Amino acid sequence: MNKSETKATLSFSDGSPSIEFPIYKGTIGPDVIDIRKLYGETGKFTYDPGFMSTASCNSAITYIDGDKGELLYRGYPIEQLAVNCDFLETCYLLLNGELPNATEKNDFVKTVTYHTMVHEQMQFFFRGFRRDAHPMSVLVGTVGALASFYHDSLDINDPHHRRVSAIRLIAKMPTLVAMAHKYSMGQPFVYPRNDLSYTANFMRMMFATPCEEYKVNDVLVRALDRILILHADHEQNASTSTVRLSGSSGANPFACIAAGIACLWGPAHGGANEAALNMLRDIGSVDKIGEFVKKVKDKSSGVKLMGFGHRVYKNYDPRAKLMRETCHEVLAELGLENDPQFKLAMALEKIALEDDYFVQRKLYPNVDFYSGIVQSALGIPVQLFTGIFAMARTVGWIAQWNEMISDPEQKIGRPRQLFSGSPVRNVPPMSERK
Ligand code: SDX
Repeated sequence: MNKSETKATLSFSDGSPSIEFPIYKGTIGPDVIDIRKLYGETGKFTYDPGFMSTASCNSAITYIDGDKGELLYRGYPIEQLAVNCDFLETCYLLLNGELPNATEKNDFVKTVTYHTMVHEQMQFFFRGFRRDAHPMSVLVGTVGALASFYHDSLDINDPHHRRVSAIRLIAKMPTLVAMAHKYSMGQPFVYPRNDLSYTANFMRMMFATPCEEYKVNDVLVRALDRILILHADHEQNASTSTVRLSGSSGANPFACIAAGIACLWGPAHGGANEAALNMLRDIGSVDKIGEFVKKVKDKSSGVKLMGFGHRVYKNYDPRAKLMRETCHEVLAELGLENDPQFKLAMALEKIALEDDYFVQRKLYPNVDFYSGIVQSALGIPVQLFTGIFAMARTVGWIAQWNEMISDPEQKIGRPRQLFSGSPVRNVPPMSERK
């Protein structure tokens, strides 16, 4: 973080003394104005609901340029990582800052592979849930419960403990997501196998049964692996900010990731892929798109085009483009080129990209628009889409959490407010209350 020559000066029209703030430059992207002394010197707060103009931290992990539609993990463009790397290489990169060489990759893969089993008693947590419980409620509960098994790695100030927890979380998420799926199906849990890749292992735990082995299809495994890469991290989004804020209190990493899962569940965030597929189902056919778009434009309907729009990308989400390509590959592999949902999605995208209402508001497809169609084609139930998102994002959350804990500037996050409630008043006796 380099101090800029330029300073920011805040002056007041009521003659109060003006105040100067330092400006810092990052390596790329917008400069920041350091306002930390504002309240101490003026007794005033800044006001920024939704943090549209607020940098909450100094990070070196992921960079997004919303206008250029650019996404970099540790400086590498997502387009190159999605084609040249697999998900565990991407995990290594996000955690360590550099891509692994062959030896480092083998060691990392082995370490993760040998942590994919969960404690045998974890299965008892599932029995407390209804079979039709939403998988995200199961994941919030079971990931939080992991903390009760790993008292040997909860000292967040010990870098070794932080690394062990990171490996455990990355390794066990697929097992827990697959267990949530099997539990909802009333099928027995399938244990991970050490002779399969991370993503093939997950697909086997999802789709194998005691009666029939899962035949690994490399095209489908590669497609899901790419989905995991595309969802691995995304700067200071809502769930990552939740993980950072939880971690700033010293909460253990399992509790912080459970908090991130809870936030990701929302339809405005990670729940959008499930909502986007439900939207396509509700629209039903291409001839009904016009009627639906009319509803979206009518603000009073409260209907949104799920899978469209983004707080940062005011141009195409680079992940959506890659996801659309993956869609084509998977549907072709499965002989579903004429998949009605995919055709409907492409027709909807075309209409939205030409319609002034969406163009004016810079609403383009985001990562969630196509990911549901691909996952559906892979046989993943709609309700599990956000669980897959959480499985992918766990590495991003834990990398950001680790960066925050090791940041010497780190302190507990504690925003203030503009208070618009009642000034002080006395409690009236019951007889005088209206
Ligand atoms: C993810 O932050 C991240 O990086 C998230 C994520 C990640 O990887 O972590 O990228 C993952 O969460 C992607 C986003 C998935 N969510 C959706 O697809 C849900 C639908 N999208 C919207 O809810 C919305 O676009 C947001 C929440 C994504 C962004 O909302 P903003 O930035 O607060 O924008 P806004 O709500 O102020 O919208 C600006 C205008 C408004 O209209 P006006 O008041 O100007 O007339 O656009 C309209 C909004 O009403 N608008 C939409 C819309 N999104 C915004 N109108 C219809 N459909 C939509 N999807």
